[in-house]
Amino acid sequence: MSDIASLNVSSLAPLTHLGELSVEEFIADYWQQKPVCIRNGIAFQQALIGVDELAGLALEAEVESRLIENKGDIKDWQVIHGPLTDADFNKERDFPWTLLVQGVDCFVPEAHDFLAKFRFLPSWRLDDLMISYATKGAGVGAHYDRYDVFLIQGEGQRQWQVGQTCSEHSALMAHDQLCLLQDFELHQEFTLNPGDMLYIPPLVAHKGVAVSDACVTYSVGFRSPSHGDVLTTFADERNLDISADLRIKDNGFTASSGAISADDVAGLMQLMRDQITPENVAQWFGKYSTEAKYPALDMAEEAMDQNELDSIIADNYGVLRVSEGVRLAYTWQGDGGMTLFIQGEALPCPPQATSFVEAIADQWLIEVDELGVLVEDDASKAMLLILHNQGYLYFADE
Ligand code: SIN
Ligand code: CO
Repeated sequence: MSDIASLNVSSLAPLTHLGELSVEEFIADYWQQKPVCIRNGIAFQQALIGVDELAGLALEAEVESRLIENKGDIKDWQVIHGPLTDADFNKERDFPWTLLVQGVDCFVPEAHDFLAKFRFLPSWRLDDLMISYATKGAGVGAHYDRYDVFLIQGEGQRQWQVGQTCSEHSALMAHDQLCLLQDFELHQEFTLNPGDMLYIPPLVAHKGVAVSDACVTYSVGFRSPSHGDVLTTFADERNLDISADLRIKDNGFTASSGAISADDVAGLMQLMRDQITPENVAQWFGKYSTEAKYPALDMAEEAMDQNELDSIIADNYGVLRVSEGVRLAYTWQGDGGMTLFIQGEALPCPPQATSFVEAIADQWLIEVDELGVLVEDDASKAMLLILHNQGYLYFADE
């Protein structure tokens, strides 16, 4: 087992290998191209979350969860949306069922750290960690997702079937809550044991069935904004900055009265092109890509002042961590300035704070004994305190 990447929760270093594949080989040959089953991709030292804790999360109002019952015909499968109740769990079921809990990384530090392992891809791409718990024979049916996903077996065994590449034209079953494929062409089949993982690119049909009881699957899902979302959210962001006094100007009239001329169209295209500058696109994308998955989650940490920060640094103990559920990224502008984007907000960084911001955004964790040199001056300490006091960062033992 020594060549298997072993999960050490106190280290947030991204994986360098997926089983025998280096991440470079994986990205070149499979990422967004074709499915691949990776045996012994990750060895778990312990489960990321206990089954009772997972069920407990599903009872919480701020947690997205579903329970899918495979009772009778597929069209009759029941979906119970969370928050679930004790009665949902105490109910005797003599048919298979699956509990799916979304965004576990926003609530459980070990799950957040697990997601961090996938930062061999840009972290803005990471969406969430979903965890499912299934009884023997349970599954959510044949479907496709529009995003990349790693399906990692945590406990028990699951059989996965991988099928055709789908599209919006693929026929779906008549079910008002589940998007299940009417046709599934079996291409590949794998039985996953704990530590095995299956990568599925967007649109590729897949179907998993638990072949043991207590089958736990970790799904690392990625963000894949649609082209439509890119255009509409960019336009919405620009609209915040553009004066309503600016109106379309005419450039002479050459066409017939009933026509929209080629000049009209060219003028409109120019107006749009003028907005597409590297700075405008980076500012919009930084905010857009770091928007919180669950904006209503309360992040507030107990406020700290500079004296308290100085004494933590002097104590030289512990780590500074990015809070669970916080998304952050930075860009460099053409003039050498840096902007930090965090939970959808843009924060210009003073030049003294750029090394600190780069370190926390790249690593998600800084040892306190490395913090001293990163935040030596008041400007970078102030930046750290702003982020800490908003609850975006916190100090912990490890
Ligand atoms: C599951 O964990 O049962 C379903 C995950 C998926 O197919 O995306
Ligand atoms: Co899926």
